[in-house]
Amino acid sequence: MQTAQAHKIDVPAYNAEVARETDAVYKKLKNQYSQENWEEIAPYIFEINRLKKEKNAAILAHNYMTPDVFFGVGDIIGDSLMLAQKAAQSTADIIVQGGVHFMAETSKILCPEKKILMPDMKAGCSLADAITGADIRALKEKYPGIPVVSYVNTTADVKAESDVCCTSSNALKIVNALGAQGHDTIIMTPDKYLAQNVAAQTDVNIIIWDGACEVHERFSAQDVKDMRAQHPDVFVLAHPECPPEVIAESDYAGSTAQMDTYIKENQPKMAMLMTECSMSDNIAANNPDVHMVGTCQMCPHMKRITLPKILHALQTEQPEVLVDPKIIPRARQAVERMLELS
Ligand code: 13P
Repeated sequence: MQTAQAHKIDVPAYNAEVARETDAVYKKLKNQYSQENWEEIAPYIFEINRLKKEKNAAILAHNYMTPDVFFGVGDIIGDSLMLAQKAAQSTADIIVQGGVHFMAETSKILCPEKKILMPDMKAGCSLADAITGADIRALKEKYPGIPVVSYVNTTADVKAESDVCCTSSNALKIVNALGAQGHDTIIMTPDKYLAQNVAAQTDVNIIIWDGACEVHERFSAQDVKDMRAQHPDVFVLAHPECPPEVIAESDYAGSTAQMDTYIKENQPKMAMLMTECSMSDNIAANNPDVHMVGTCQMCPHMKRITLPKILHALQTEQPEVLVDPKIIPRARQAVERMLELS
């Protein structure tokens, strides 16, 4: 048995069975992990996948998970919207959230009967920290009758106070749907850049909250210009949490899943993503003919989720994410309204 330093977890040794069971994943990830690395990683993948079956558990892996987690143990993979939709349809008794805390809360809101495990409770989000339920109540007092659209990157409390949620893939659609219902002004929280990027594409007037993603706000238009100076043919894709000047310099803007689909369908020779690092690694593994280049910005919260921590969570069924049952119905209404409108 090998022992993981972080949690002192026992895993099987790398043996013929482990090699056989993990071989298909390793073939995909050969460019990213050496054989020596893989022999350390594979026993975790093997043991997590075995325990998942035993416990009827599913792992939700966001596109920002590292490739060993994303391809090795992820059952439901994708962007925030997909994870929320598919968690609601899953027949698993236990969900392990490969992502950050607000995503685990969203799973609990949509599947209160399931046990939701968060491998590291410290995996937070600067956007979710940027606003509270009390802030939303104050906004509603200040702007009576104006609907509040809150990004899914918020706490359950904030969702419960909001009229409807949105993700980066459906924000424009939701704002326009409210516009079509006769709302000429809406409030959008908490991401100022997502709100500014939506405002540039709609006639609906948007009142903007001053929050930002600590990863995406680090990208600049100059990063894109520098890369184009080096590689004039590079195709640049940016997440809508980036500042508007970055979006303006880019060739395409979309959620993590939309960027992934764009590359899969269009196979640019060279691409740069203005988003979290692991997303480029995962796209590179799936698209060997696309040369991924670019600056890399790491989300320290997403990177807290590792194979040893996932295994520990599955073994101990801890730590569990709970949401106050009094809050769940109202928070769920905001998420379900989003799912209906998108
Ligand atoms: P997506 O909805 O595009 O997956 O984005 C989630 C997120 O937290 C980006 O920082």
